Amino acid sequence: MKDPVHIAITGASGGLGRALVKCYAAPGVHFFLCGRNSQELEKTAHIAKEKGAELNLELFDVTDPQALENWLTASDGAKPLDLVVANAGICRGIGDDGLESPKDMLQTFEVNTKAMLHTAIVAASLMLPRKKGQVALISSQAARLSLVNAPSYSASKAAVRNYGHSLRCSMADKGLEVTVVCPGYLKTPMLETFTGPLPGTWDVDKAANYIVKKLRLGPREIKFPWILNRMIDFLDFLPQSWAEGMSRRFSFKVKPANEKKK
Ligand SMILES: NC(=O)c1ccc[n+]([C@@H]2O[C@H](COP(=O)([O-])OP(=O)(O)OC[C@H]3O[C@@H](n4cnc5c(N)ncnc54)[C@H](OP(=O)(O)O)[C@@H]3O)[C@@H](O)[C@H]2O)c1
Repeated sequence: MKDPVHIAITGASGGLGRALVKCYAAPGVHFFLCGRNSQELEKTAHIAKEKGAELNLELFDVTDPQALENWLTASDGAKPLDLVVANAGICRGIGDDGLESPKDMLQTFEVNTKAMLHTAIVAASLMLPRKKGQVALISSQAARLSLVNAPSYSASKAAVRNYGHSLRCSMADKGLEVTVVCPGYLKTPMLETFTGPLPGTWDVDKAANYIVKKLRLGPREIKFPWILNRMIDFLDFLPQSWAEGMSRRFSFKVKPANEKKK
């Protein structure tokens, strides 16, 4: 959608969410932003206000279905939403034994898949009567190539990608745009939990600018960077054992949850 003015973003208290706010912020734009960390969310709000935008902030956990629905419904009631970006996400890794903790696996799907798809469905249902609006789902290149050390993350993002593609088709003749976004590695707090090879890492502001520019055209999918696109396409062509060997060799490590900052 070109020039959305009423924009809701989940996970706006840092990383990509904040960078998207920076890009869209301008006089006449009204944001509805959510997160759990009030200090960090306030920092995002400050940036938006400095650029002349207006906003409403809400602190809640996106895995609380009622809080999520209430927030989206109230936001849309106050200003009919043009764009909803389902962005809030987490990444957990595997332990030295090669396994993820069941708790991390469950939490990853709660946030990355269930809450993200919940955001998309509720947003679309609010936009449907107007036959106008865009929903962007932040998936990942991990949806295209499963990361050895982040199995639930990869699977949760693959589910979002597939769901987004289906939703796009079912909404196409109803005037809504649905776009799946598959970024590669971005310099955000999430990436601080990774160690090892991270090819084609982008600065988060560069990524947000790219996403905003592409979202204007309402594409089915936005995937970047180019180098990762080609690498993943190439791996698809290789015999499976070669592709698996390369994935293992070039896999990064995600620090266990107790070593993380949050
Ligand atoms: N960084 C990368 O390399 C990369 C690559 C591809 C895709 N992505 C995707 O991009 C999106 C943003 O990630 P990021 O890199 O910006 O990560 P980040 O810096 O860790 O930010 C994640 C955001 O999600 C919010 N969030 C997490 N769990 C939440 C919950 N249960 N309820 C409410 N908010 C929650 C956080 O808010 P609070 O801290 O306030 O809870 C924060 O604002 C994610 O979906 C991620 O999977 C990231």
